[in-house]
Amino acid sequence: MNIVIEKAKACNLQEIADIEKEIFSTPWSLKNITDTFKNENNCFFVAKDLESGEIVGHICLETVLDEGILTSIAVKEKYRNKGIAKKLMDSFIDEAKNRNIAFINLEVRASNAPAIALYEKYGFEKVGTRKNYYSKPTEDALLMMLNF
Ligand SMILES: CC(C)(COP(=O)(O)OP(=O)(O)OC[C@H]1O[C@@H](n2cnc3c(N)ncnc32)[C@H](O)[C@@H]1OP(=O)(O)O)[C@@H](O)C(=O)NCCC(=O)NCCS
Repeated sequence: MNIVIEKAKACNLQEIADIEKEIFSTPWSLKNITDTFKNENNCFFVAKDLESGEIVGHICLETVLDEGILTSIAVKEKYRNKGIAKKLMDSFIDEAKNRNIAFINLEVRASNAPAIALYEKYGFEKVGTRKNYYSKPTEDALLMMLNF
């Protein structure tokens, strides 16, 4: 397995939508992904398996002035625990710094221990809760923030 992280291209968006559908109970649609991709305030990175050419994960940075938002990160199940999310996060953080982002916010399901551990590894701290924020199933969101 030879994984590289690249900025997403328009031809990757269907595969990003397929991963969203495979993993999340309320996935981003291809239309939402395409609209987000077309806005230059935002940036997607994909993890690509060079042997198969397959997109195996993605991360999305959205920005509003000096605020960054991590709106989605996902790695296909059979590619997990191989450090791919860390590679995606490294590119994401570099991009945020290049864009002079002062802080990054995100929301995560309160029960999502792998994602919370990943975010804490990168210095994100819990700053609040949104009660019953998620559906399918209903669950609280933890709000996490990273200050640069
Ligand atoms: C969260 C997710 C992106 C991690 O991807 P991954 O490629 O398996 O993660 P990595 O192998 O790069 O691991 C990075 C770190 O994440 C944490 N982590 C990953 N899997 C974990 C698990 N099963 N349990 C606890 N911590 C875990 C660890 O801190 C790990 O660092 P370490 O290996 O040095 O201990 C992946 O599990 C996923 O796609 N989950 C479903 C989608 C999702 O929940 N996204 C977040 C929505 S807010």
